[in-house]
Amino acid sequence: MRRIQSVKAMTAWSAGLHREGVTIGLVPTMGALHDGHRALIRAARLACDAVAVSIFVNPLQFGPLEDFDRYPRSLPRDLRLCEQEGVDAVFAPRAHELYPPAFETAVSVQRLTRRYEGLSRPGHFGGVTTVVTKLLNIVRPEQTFFGQKDYQQAVVVERLVSDLNLETTIVVRPTVREPDGLALSSRNRSLSPAERKAATVLYQALSSGRELIRAGERSVKKIEAAMTKLIWAEPLARLDYLAVAHPATLDEVRRVRGRVVLLLAVWIGETRLIDNLVVSAR
Ligand code: PAJ
Repeated sequence: MRRIQSVKAMTAWSAGLHREGVTIGLVPTMGALHDGHRALIRAARLACDAVAVSIFVNPLQFGPLEDFDRYPRSLPRDLRLCEQEGVDAVFAPRAHELYPPAFETAVSVQRLTRRYEGLSRPGHFGGVTTVVTKLLNIVRPEQTFFGQKDYQQAVVVERLVSDLNLETTIVVRPTVREPDGLALSSRNRSLSPAERKAATVLYQALSSGRELIRAGERSVKKIEAAMTKLIWAEPLARLDYLAVAHPATLDEVRRVRGRVVLLLAVWIGETRLIDNLVVSAR
């Protein structure tokens, strides 16, 4: 496995493989790798000849009051996981490699980012779309793998790639969960044992929304009320947002028709968690 820190070496690695007709799959991450990332790496292995994983805690996508400093970092462990999974190259640049002092460009997706995560975390998606554009230009992967766990991010990145004619295919893979339903997340490591228990409320609320829809409920007001009630009942949880939206446009809907996505963000103590479920009304 190659461990690459410079943009120049990464571009050269990718160009070399492309000359030989080798296809590249990229899994962009911020490290602190877990089985959710592992599933993306495995999907990339199956679909492409060579796999690159980027590990970069992107300062641009954290707000000034957010957890950039607190975000878990475990590069040696991450490198071992990548090695085990047969990753061909890990791109782990330092911040000044991607953002030299003169850097002043931003890539932004408009309407899709002005809601949900974008409202709660101003500037977040600008950071994501800027770094993803850079990673795609540096690695030039045929396919790029994202998790459904960050549903809005996946939709935003698909828009970005389509709008800017970037030459990669975005592949979105299902959310990997703990046995009790909690979606795997690097941020779960910050939870105390009591908070870890309380964090199951996200999946419980999503599941209750899904059950209501399966039982025939079509009023979003009623579905949201039932989900909200569950979250309010958990003393360690504080609801940030909850929405029932169209799975492609992310517009909120008032009645459930066809497929919808249930989206939520909940504070558990000092840790903010997000999750979602796509539910079909038929
Ligand atoms: P990070 O949070 O490290 O996530 C990297 C990828 O793993 C994302 O596509 C995310 O959706 C996926 N992922 C995380 N938890 C998952 C789970 N439980 N099941 C399946 N996939 C999961 O998302 C980012 O990093 C950054 O915003 C990034 C795209 C790398 C840009 O900096």
